[in-house]
Amino acid sequence: MATSNNHKPAGHERIETSNFLMIVLILLAVAVGGIVEIVPLFFQRSTTQAAEGVKPYTALQLAGRDVYVREGCYNCHSQMIRPFRSETLRYGQYSTAGEFVYDHPFQWGSKRTGPDLHRVGGKYSDEWHRVHLINPRDLVPESNMPAYPWLEKANVSAAIGDHMVGLRRVGVPYTDAEIAKAAEDVKGKTELDAVIAYLQVMGTTRK
Ligand code: HEC
Repeated sequence: MATSNNHKPAGHERIETSNFLMIVLILLAVAVGGIVEIVPLFFQRSTTQAAEGVKPYTALQLAGRDVYVREGCYNCHSQMIRPFRSETLRYGQYSTAGEFVYDHPFQWGSKRTGPDLHRVGGKYSDEWHRVHLINPRDLVPESNMPAYPWLEKANVSAAIGDHMVGLRRVGVPYTDAEIAKAAEDVKGKTELDAVIAYLQVMGTTRK
C-alpha cells in the first residue's frame, strides 16, 4: 500500500514496511518455534536414558568404533533401522534412541551403499568379518566395499583410556577401574580385532 507523506504506518503495516523489524521478528518467531519443538527432547527419558541392557562400549569395542569412524565406514553404512516393514523384515527390530545414548557421535546416517549395520552383531562369525574386512570379494564376489588389509597390521593405541575419560565427561558412566585397565585390555590387539569386537556388539541388546 502506498503511503503519503503525512501517513505514518502503524501496527502490522509498520512491521511489513520495515526490513529491520520484519527480519528481527521472523528470526524471533522461528527461534521460539524451534525451542518449543527441540528443548523438550533433551528431557525425554526415551531419548536420554539408555535402553534396557545397553552398556557402555568396552575399551576394545570403543577402539573399534574409533577405527570405524576414522575409516569412514559411515559413508556407505547407516546404523538406523527405520520402523517400516521393508526395513524390519530385512534387518530386524527397528532402532530406538535409547540404544544410542553412549554413542558420541552417533552413526545413524541415511547413506546406504552397503546394508544398514545396526543389528549386524552376532549375524556372522568373527572369522567371517576377518576375511570380509581384509578383502570383501573373497566372500561376496560382487561387493564394491573397499578392502582394509592394514587393520590387521596396526595395533590398537594404548591411549584409549583417554577417550573413555572424555566420554565420561559427557555422561558415559565409565568407572575409574575400567579406565585404569583400558590399556591392558587392548594390549596386543590389532585394529582388526577391535573393529570386529565393535561390529559384534552392535544392536545386540534388542535383538
Ligand atoms: C564404498 C562403500 C563401503 C564402505 C566405505 C564400507 N562398506 Fe561395508 N559394505 C559395502 C557393501 C556394498 C556391502 C555389501 C556387500 C558385501 O557384503 O561386501 C558391505 C557389507 C558390509 C558388511 C556385511 C553386512 C551384512 O549384513 O551382510 C559389514 C559387516 C561391513 N560392510 C562393514 C564395513 C566396515 C566395518 C567398514 C569400514 C571399515 C565398511 N564396511 C566400509 C560397502 C561399503
